[in-house]
Amino acid sequence: MAVIRSVTSMQRLARKLAGQGKKIGLVPTMGFLHEGHLSLIKRARKKTDIVITSIFVNPTQFAPGEDLEQYPRDERGDIRKIKRAGGEIIFIPRAEDIYPEGFQTYVTVEQLTLTLEGKMRPTHFRGVTTIVAKLFNICRPDVAVFGMKDYQQAIVLKRMTHDLGYPITFIIAPTVREPDGLAMSSRNKYFTPEQRPEALCLYYALTSARSMVQAGEYTAAIIRKEMRAVIKATCPTAIIDYIAFTDFETLQPVQHVTAGTICSLAIKVHGVRLIDNMKLL
Ligand code: PAF
Repeated sequence: MAVIRSVTSMQRLARKLAGQGKKIGLVPTMGFLHEGHLSLIKRARKKTDIVITSIFVNPTQFAPGEDLEQYPRDERGDIRKIKRAGGEIIFIPRAEDIYPEGFQTYVTVEQLTLTLEGKMRPTHFRGVTTIVAKLFNICRPDVAVFGMKDYQQAIVLKRMTHDLGYPITFIIAPTVREPDGLAMSSRNKYFTPEQRPEALCLYYALTSARSMVQAGEYTAAIIRKEMRAVIKATCPTAIIDYIAFTDFETLQPVQHVTAGTICSLAIKVHGVRLIDNMKLL
């Protein structure tokens, strides 16, 4: 297994591997890996000959006042976990190589970034698309795998991959959950044991929405009202950023749930902003 920190060395190796006819998989991450990330690596490994896992806490996707400085890091632990999951190459670039002095070129996906997370965090996706485009250019993957947990991110990046003509198979892998249903996230570590059960408000709200749809209720406004009640019952201090019902591909809001409708939500639980989503039908 190789740990590569230089952009030039990574570019050279990617070119060499491609020259040898090797199929390359890429799993971009910000580190502090959990089972969700490892499932992406395993999935990439099944489709390719060699998997590059990148670890880079990307400053341009954090707004001032967000958790860039506190974002959890554990490089040694990550390397161990990637090895166990079967990832062969770990790319840990330096910030000054990714964003050299005078950096001023960004990639922007226009419409899809105006809603949901993009509305709450206006500069976030520009940072995500820029770093992922740079990683695609450096690592030249044949396959890239992203998690459904960050649903809008996945749709935005899929659009970027298509629009910029990257010859990459884009895979969106299912969300991995803790046994009690909480979606795995590096930010779950911020909760104290007392706060942790209240983080389940997202999962409970989503599963109650799905049960309502299964029972024949398709009106988004009615389902949203019930979800708010479930959230408040589980975490009375929760601050709801949004509960949205959207079309899977276009991210356009829908008033009535139909096949392919995704319910996504963002909630601050004890100051920690969590997102989650579920296909309702
Ligand atoms: O999902 C993440 O961890 C990040 O947004 C990503 C895709 C690695 C880009 O920094």
